[in-house]
Amino acid sequence: MGLRNVFTEKQAEVIRQFNTNKDWKLMINTGAVRAGKTFVDNFLFFMAVHHAAEIAKEQHKPFVQFILAGASSKTIQSNILDELQTTFNLTFQFDKHGSFQIKFPALPPVKIVMAYTKSIAGLSSIRGMTSYGAYINEASLANELVFDEIQKRCSGKDARIICDTNPDVPTHFLKRIIDRAEETNDKTVVSNHFTIFDNEENLDPVYLQHLLNTTPTGMLYDRDILGQWTSGEGIVYSDFDINKNVITRAKFDELYPKPVQDHVLKYVAGVDFGFEHKGCIVVIAIDKRKDKYYMIEEITHKHWQKERWIFEAQKLVNKYGDIPFYCDYARPEYLAAFQDAGLKAFKAFKSRLYGVEKVGSLIKQVKFQVIKEAIDYFEKELFAYNWDEKTGEPEKKDGNDDVMDTVRYAIVTYIHLQEKRNAINRYEQSYADKAQIMDNLGLI
Ligand SMILES: Nc1ncnc2c1ncn2[C@@H]1O[C@H](COP(=O)(O)OP(=O)(O)OP(=O)(O)O)[C@@H](O)[C@H]1O
Ligand SMILES: [Mg+2]
Repeated sequence: MGLRNVFTEKQAEVIRQFNTNKDWKLMINTGAVRAGKTFVDNFLFFMAVHHAAEIAKEQHKPFVQFILAGASSKTIQSNILDELQTTFNLTFQFDKHGSFQIKFPALPPVKIVMAYTKSIAGLSSIRGMTSYGAYINEASLANELVFDEIQKRCSGKDARIICDTNPDVPTHFLKRIIDRAEETNDKTVVSNHFTIFDNEENLDPVYLQHLLNTTPTGMLYDRDILGQWTSGEGIVYSDFDINKNVITRAKFDELYPKPVQDHVLKYVAGVDFGFEHKGCIVVIAIDKRKDKYYMIEEITHKHWQKERWIFEAQKLVNKYGDIPFYCDYARPEYLAAFQDAGLKAFKAFKSRLYGVEKVGSLIKQVKFQVIKEAIDYFEKELFAYNWDEKTGEPEKKDGNDDVMDTVRYAIVTYIHLQEKRNAINRYEQSYADKAQIMDNLGLI
């Protein structure tokens, strides 16, 4: 059976490289999401473990060790072990240290030792060991010291390291390793670049099209779809189109006539407290049925004391009901003052890159619109809200991102809470299903 029966063209290329190029010690498979990197790396992992077992036999060792590394035990389980289980029909017997063995016929066993790469604490399991190879899943999430230590541990004969990773900023240590190897023609490091289109044959066309339609243009598209190491340039919300993403209050009232507005819309607020830089409250109206978000109020001001912000928030409560305020909590005394005043104030979900990806995706799909008459600083900030070329996150410039942050707190905290609630519902549902089965069996 040819490689192409099982693998995509790109994956077949990687397998051939694994077998025919004898010089490499470190292979970095990098690129887009859903591109087929982990699928092929799981095979390479198996091939590398088999090779380690052959070396053990040659060196008359009773067994050898091999490192399996990932950001956390959870990601190793879901990205690798579950996949290996389904692809190769394997089961793993873990010992009390969380290691397991892989045994091929007529060869000594290979002990697979886990290492968690996200923090330096993950090193403890591999300190001092000699490894005959390593597989590092999601390598860009690894702490550089842990990555270095894994490289040092791989001192057994013919030990090779296989990594897969999504791209990050161009200054990331992994990208520097790739670039240096190319510049110096270092044959011990090989890298393969995947785009999502390399795995088109294994992706549901509806899913792929959805991903293309919803991934914000610019840095996130270049990384997630094209697999490029980029920190982005220009404005963060480059899909924002004034002709589509801004509507008049009259148009909004036409879409949601006054008598039905409060029945079909849910209102949430975002709050960014500020004194020397601008403070801001926005109200977002959400049409859950259509998954649409409208910024219907924006109050932005400098030099207001917290009493004034409470007063403004209370006016909004009078207008829209007892709405939740998702607040920046860099100033805990402001948040506490809101709560003491009887406002439903909560800490906002503040993860920036996750947040701008969500808002950017809504903008691209024209699911986020802004009421023209509500805008004060929103538009000015939007067109000055740029990517930071060093960090690959939105630039942190005092006075330029207050409204941007506030809008993100409102929308993304709401979405995050919904996702959490859905996960709990799913859990409760499966729990209820299990309880039902046990009940049917007369066990409870
Ligand atoms: N050769 C193949 N045959 C069948 N299915 C495949 C093949 N290659 C990949 N897939 C499937 O395509 C999907 C994406 O592959 P994979 O998880 O390897 O991508 P990835 O590049 O690691 O993505 P991410 O960056 O999101 O982790 C998975 O469901 C995987 O099982
Ligand atoms: Mg993967």
